[in-house]
Amino acid sequence: MCGIVGYTGPKDAYPVIIKGLKRLEYRGYDSTGVALQNGSLKVYKKKGKVAELEESIVGKDLKGHTGIGHTRWATHGEPSDANAHPHQSASGKLAMIHNGIIENYTQLKQELINKGYQFKSETDTEVLLNFIEEIKKNNHCNLEEAVRIALKRVTGAYVILLLDAEEPETIIAARKGSPLVIGIGKGEHFLGSDASPMLEYTKEVVYVNDYELAIVKPDELILKNLGNEKITPYVQKLDIELAAIEKGGYDHFMLKEIFEQPQTIFDCLRGRLDTTGGKITMSGIQQYAGQIMNANRILMIACGTSWHAGLVAEYIFEELCRINVEVEYASEFRYRNPVINPGDVIIAISQSGETADTLVAIENAKNQGAIILGVVNVVGSSIARASHGGAYTHAGPEIGVASTKAFTAQLAVLTMIALKIAHEKQTIDQERYLHLLNELSEIPEKVAWVLKTKEKIQQLAEKYKDARDFLYLGRGYNFPVALEGALKLKEISYIHAEGYPAAEMKHGPIALVDEHLPVVVVATKDTYHHKVVSNIQEIKARKGKVIAVISEGDTDTAAMCDDVLIVPEADEIVAPMLSVVPLQLLAYYIGVAKGYDVDKPRNLAKSVTVE
Ligand code: F6R
Repeated sequence: MCGIVGYTGPKDAYPVIIKGLKRLEYRGYDSTGVALQNGSLKVYKKKGKVAELEESIVGKDLKGHTGIGHTRWATHGEPSDANAHPHQSASGKLAMIHNGIIENYTQLKQELINKGYQFKSETDTEVLLNFIEEIKKNNHCNLEEAVRIALKRVTGAYVILLLDAEEPETIIAARKGSPLVIGIGKGEHFLGSDASPMLEYTKEVVYVNDYELAIVKPDELILKNLGNEKITPYVQKLDIELAAIEKGGYDHFMLKEIFEQPQTIFDCLRGRLDTTGGKITMSGIQQYAGQIMNANRILMIACGTSWHAGLVAEYIFEELCRINVEVEYASEFRYRNPVINPGDVIIAISQSGETADTLVAIENAKNQGAIILGVVNVVGSSIARASHGGAYTHAGPEIGVASTKAFTAQLAVLTMIALKIAHEKQTIDQERYLHLLNELSEIPEKVAWVLKTKEKIQQLAEKYKDARDFLYLGRGYNFPVALEGALKLKEISYIHAEGYPAAEMKHGPIALVDEHLPVVVVATKDTYHHKVVSNIQEIKARKGKVIAVISEGDTDTAAMCDDVLIVPEADEIVAPMLSVVPLQLLAYYIGVAKGYDVDKPRNLAKSVTVE
């Protein structure tokens, strides 16, 4: 969380930074700020989104060729002008932005208070900045040296960018646990939480690693470790086009991303799924196929929507591969002293590849000897790099805060892994294997079919937008889809929604059912369809409103529901990739009908790099 941008070079820094911050707003939008070097340090900051800052500083001195900018997701201190970054040191000569959490900041703060420091904000960032300034003063050293000394005392996670009025063309940056990319231009450098702020200027980037410090000048980039030894920067070529991070005519990124799914699932399958040859090629999995086949258990570790993908995968792996699977919330797993046995395989699922809980959970497990496979969207991200092997989801940049296309791409990858392992392990017969390869290959086309029903879904959104609560139910492969549908609705419409296994309804939630409660039942044709139909009857008997996701042609189920969302028929193993799509659209249209900013829902941020 929090987006950081930096620029040093011949261009005016301000427009580069503001444009970059707008692209990084998905990481937080509680406040925005910039610091520019122009004779002295000029700092402008404000509670609210980037556009609000922009408006408030029209006519101010925004010149300067070196600067830093920040968009905040509040951790320490409420969203306010004072808590907004950049912070300035007590002398006013240093400015700093920060993404992460300094865990021992209270102790550092007390030390500084004892020395007479006063603080203008409640943030951990201002503490670290003054701590650095104090070291610089006492040691008579430059900023780089002071940062290096300070970071040896710091616990927590951070990316920090600093400006020093005494070195007007230099940005000092350091990273531990939060992402930092440096773009290399001709006589200029760009810094960002991801590559989006620099895409139109350069495709050459360096991903900074933990415990590295960067000294960035217009024509020089020096990387060092905290022991002051130089490191050769590893320059990589970006494979993202600018169009991929723009709205392309859609009202919101979320809608664009929902509509991209036929293409993103296709991209994910392309080059891997060969229906004619009956083969699945995944080199990052093949290397570990033996260990997966012989694993005593597979642990899926993830958060949020990615955790829901793990739940679907649990059903698929157990069914097809006959391997015991456990699905863990990364945040619980990392603190639970879990038992890791030799032969355990961990699949870490993450869109951003930067989720702090998932990253630490897999690092702990790796230290205990587990094999880590990443199912990750963002190429070169921390989780991808911390994994032994795995597979990218190739869904392209996901900018809408609510995850959509990343989920279906995760399902596509996880299904391919399960099919590949089941085939090698011979726990699936050839006929079913070939049938499922075909079913998977047809998903992009079937998703496109569902998207054509958007007007109908929009009408339903209008009809149900004023409901206070929603219940989402599903069984088997569709149970995690119910959870995901409820999560999407909560996130962007702020309507309370709960997902439940359909049969659990009678153990409690049925008490909520009355004529005011819309119940979304995922009731596509599968092994337990008749059981879900009984659940629908139970809701109708209590006057609940049923909106069912049903398979095309299922007129019997349609007849007993108030409203239906229709998807093409598909094998139950691949069906979640279809049944989730109308639920994504329903949540989107309800959020829009209620007048909310669906791309930036309140209190949320896309990349959760704090615990
Ligand atoms: C929900 C959503 C979050 C993320 C979760 C994990 O729409 O986006 O629940 O799924 O924060 O993020 P990643 O997948 O980046 O690890």
